[in-house]
Amino acid sequence: MIGRLNHVAIAVPNLEAATSLYANTLGASTSAPQALPEHGVTVVFVELPNTKIELLEPLGEGSPIAAFLERNASGGIHHICYEVDDILAARDRLKSEGARVLGDGNPKIGAHGKPVLFLHPKDFNGTLVELEQV
Ligand code: CO
Repeated sequence: MIGRLNHVAIAVPNLEAATSLYANTLGASTSAPQALPEHGVTVVFVELPNTKIELLEPLGEGSPIAAFLERNASGGIHHICYEVDDILAARDRLKSEGARVLGDGNPKIGAHGKPVLFLHPKDFNGTLVELEQV
């Protein structure tokens, strides 16, 4: 059911410093910062030949990554995103297998303008999993 690895998301305390680390130290191609108030983050995309890295910085009150950064002050891997062809079919299959879908269970539009869902980390070996319909 799952397809390609779409991205790995890293929560960072300072987006400018993290972008410079990827652009200058690691020599990667990075996007301009994009504010996503609906998701409570500002994101920079790092384009790699085979996948993307998303650098996430908290935006506004109650950001979903604020608590993560309190526990991981220097940042850390926050989630991984797999591609699916049909997100509603994927959701229904996962629910029937007993996996928990976060939020109200309906896809939201993610950072790439495509529908996304998040799955409970306790059901996936301690890893927050995002599904994106491509
Ligand atoms: Co993501």
